[in-house]
Amino acid sequence: MKKLEEYVRSIPDFPEKGIIFRDVTSVLQDADGLHLAIDTMQEKIKDLDYDVVVGPESRGFIFGTPIAYNNHKPFVLIRKKGKLPRETVSTTYDLEYGSATIEMHKDSIKPGQKVLIVDDLIATGGTTEAMIKLIESLGGEVAGIVVLIELAGLKGRERLSGYRLESAICYE
Ligand code: PRP
Ligand code: HPA
Repeated sequence: MKKLEEYVRSIPDFPEKGIIFRDVTSVLQDADGLHLAIDTMQEKIKDLDYDVVVGPESRGFIFGTPIAYNNHKPFVLIRKKGKLPRETVSTTYDLEYGSATIEMHKDSIKPGQKVLIVDDLIATGGTTEAMIKLIESLGGEVAGIVVLIELAGLKGRERLSGYRLESAICYE
């Protein structure tokens, strides 16, 4: 069986010149790759105590839901602006390229709940930092963060110092 990192394709100059895009679709479109990705992420947080899994649109949904399902935990969606129908909290942040506004339902986290954040990838850490802001504004406590891929050169880990961050694959 192949190693997890062998399922990731690296695409130079996408979506802009100078960016090497680490493509998770090649992991997902292989049955063994998909199993290995979820199982490896799961293994990284097996000792973690949490009440709820939170994942951001859109690739965070793909990895967050199976982890929530496997552990019989609820899954809470963080969505891009204008998609959630009930009362929300929202925040705007910078991405590696561009900016975004994300929202979550005000009643999706109860004060004191321990939250596991799941995403496909951490680059600058801006998305995760914004998610933490939303979760904490609702009284949630971030127990940990797990991602499939960490782009260490963009120093997301430093930005999130003080929080437990686990990654299944790390690129320098
Ligand atoms: C990507 C990725 C992470 C984030 C990482 O999402 O899925 O959520 O960027 O970058 P950061 O650490 O610099 O914040 P994107 O906003 O492109 O949305 P998508 O999943 O819908 O493509
Ligand atoms: N790959 C996938 N998603 C991303 C990347 C990347 O290299 N950087 C920011 N989001």
